[in-house]
Amino acid sequence: MSKNWKHDFVEKRIGLFAILTIVAISIGGLVEITPLLFQKQTNEPVIGLKPYTALEMEGRDIYIREGCNNCHSQMIRPFRAESERYGHYSLAGEHVWERPFLWGSKRTGPDLARVGGRYSDEWHYVHLMNPRDVVPESNMPGFPWLAEAELDGELTAKKLATFRTFGVPYTDEDIAGAKAAVQGKTEMEALIAYLQALGTGLQQQAN
Ligand code: HEC
Repeated sequence: MSKNWKHDFVEKRIGLFAILTIVAISIGGLVEITPLLFQKQTNEPVIGLKPYTALEMEGRDIYIREGCNNCHSQMIRPFRAESERYGHYSLAGEHVWERPFLWGSKRTGPDLARVGGRYSDEWHYVHLMNPRDVVPESNMPGFPWLAEAELDGELTAKKLATFRTFGVPYTDEDIAGAKAAVQGKTEMEALIAYLQALGTGLQQQAN
């Protein structure tokens, strides 16, 4: 009998081989992932991180509804080419309050993890109405209906309260005032407020 009889035995039985492969991958995965769940660096918010305001929270939901995340990532990788273009690479501590994460990997357009403060509100408005008015070669679609749709704020307080159960430090006043803070604002205003907040937590820390 050859030394490799055990290999032969496993390799000739596809079902057993599949199960053993899954076991091996699971152990490898757990060894890599489990420690991250307990590390401060990945669990604690960076200093200066602020929860999204009621308006920014509504903007985030519009960002998801309109599928912006299908073309834009929010994850600057720790490579020089990326940090020169987009700013400091993304840190886990900036995203601890995100549900769901919008990191993504598809970049039809640029990464938006630190787009906050890069342009004026007016620029975003013109760009979102019709991107080609400011970037002639753009293939991003326009979203002009956002400028007409008004928020009623019916669910805003509930959203903040839900995020509080995940550990986001909203106060009772934040939640009580959430509806009034967004009512009558347009979806466009909410989306721009959200974009302007992206990635600014870390900038505040650096200053
Ligand atoms: C079909 C893909 C696509 C979709 C969907 C899309 N974008 Fe874009 N976006 C692009 C491309 C391509 C660019 C680069 C050209 C330009 O600036 O218009 C861009 C640029 C941008 C920029 C400028 C970024 C920078 O650093 O210059 C912002 C901000 C932006 N998009 C926000 C959004 C938002 C918000 C949504 C959803 C409402 C959205 N995009 C949906 C493709 C897309």
